Amino acid sequence: MPQTVLVTGGAGFIGSHTCVELLRSGHEVVVLDDHSNSSPEALERVAKIAGRPVAATHIADVRDRRALDAVFMSHPIDAVIHFAAKKAVGESVRIPLAYYDVNVGGTTALVSAMHDHGVHRLVFSSSCSVYGDATTVPLTEDSPTAPTNPYATTKWTCEQVLADLCRHVPGLRVLALRYFNPAGAHPTGLLGEDPRGVPNNIMPFLTQIAVGRRDELSVFGDDYPTPDGTGVRDYIHVVDVAEGHRAALDHIDDAPGMRVFNLGTGHGASVLELVRTFERVSGRPIPHRVTERRPGDVAELVADPAKVTAAWGWSARRDLTAMCRDAWNFQQQNPHGYAPVPNTPSPLP
Ligand code: NAD
Ligand code: WQD
Repeated sequence: MPQTVLVTGGAGFIGSHTCVELLRSGHEVVVLDDHSNSSPEALERVAKIAGRPVAATHIADVRDRRALDAVFMSHPIDAVIHFAAKKAVGESVRIPLAYYDVNVGGTTALVSAMHDHGVHRLVFSSSCSVYGDATTVPLTEDSPTAPTNPYATTKWTCEQVLADLCRHVPGLRVLALRYFNPAGAHPTGLLGEDPRGVPNNIMPFLTQIAVGRRDELSVFGDDYPTPDGTGVRDYIHVVDVAEGHRAALDHIDDAPGMRVFNLGTGHGASVLELVRTFERVSGRPIPHRVTERRPGDVAELVADPAKVTAAWGWSARRDLTAMCRDAWNFQQQNPHGYAPVPNTPSPLP
């Protein structure tokens, strides 16, 4: 049934792709985003792909209770998908309080506003990083959690807070989705990942090398206990992740309380496998050099997605080749991301 869905962080990488899926499925979408890590242009492109725009965009901070009240008073919100968060692991080690403030404080402000306005359905963006340094893969939702950096700890903390609230607030329904490594872009080339500054994640780094914005990839360690010694991750196409959110909305009323699901493919790829796939798909060489391990990195993170498939019939449909092809297509069509021209320093007066 069509719902009116508030999407926090809806202009971001995963949020914008999810807005497309929701609009295409007939839902009304209201976005709240402060654009601290996104461009308003992404929502223009969402409208182009979906054939209709989101119902409203509120440019506001998710911690701002007055802004949240205004959003809930202006729209009959049925459910909330909460993407808005800070997500750079390295930065979270340098400024952990900012991460607790935005990620945990933003979540409690949002849930408090939902409660005051009688909204009881929440889909929360969690992360495979809550598993920390996994000893056995693939990871099920019951695998031990042991976050190893402040970012991951904020996601783990939000899960604990939400689970506890579900125990005490009758009627509250929360789905926490632990995404593995979202990558790729919309196949139209209109939406994609547009990180500010030096990319933290490997896929945008590869596309920026291929387009000539960066020289070479540092492969962070080749002495991990993996088949080729480089880190193994469960890369999942961002459109599969977006479709997972559509399925989540369809199933949020299946059961009361909090439920946790992995969103992954169940297949791991090493850094070198990813580099080779990207080179094949793009036809561009990716100069790379093995360097030290990146502090905090783990050897292998791969999902067991059986629980979500059994519950919703959802499974990832797109492979690593599609992720590389679509990420490369977006980068070629948007060499400077959503900015029309590269950011240049203003001329001196
Ligand atoms: P993103 O940075 O592209 O999107 C986040 C959006 O939230 C941006 O549009 C940003 O402007 C907005 N935002 C940030 N702080 C805000 C605030 N205080 N108030 C309002 N808006 C704010 O990130 P993404 O990759 O799309 O990630 C979305 C969610 O998924 C995040 O919660 C992230 O932690 C989680 N996640 C991401 C990954 C990944 O690898 N991309 C993996 C697992 C989990
Ligand atoms: C992938 C692999 C690196 C860059 C992060 C967050 C996690 C989640 C997903 C939000 C690793 C290697 C990388 C480079 C490299 N996000 N690599 N050279 O670290 O698995 O996960 O994004 O929730 O919480 O930690 O993703 O893309 O940074 O790295 O060799 O320049 O690529 O060591 O093996 P990661 P990533």
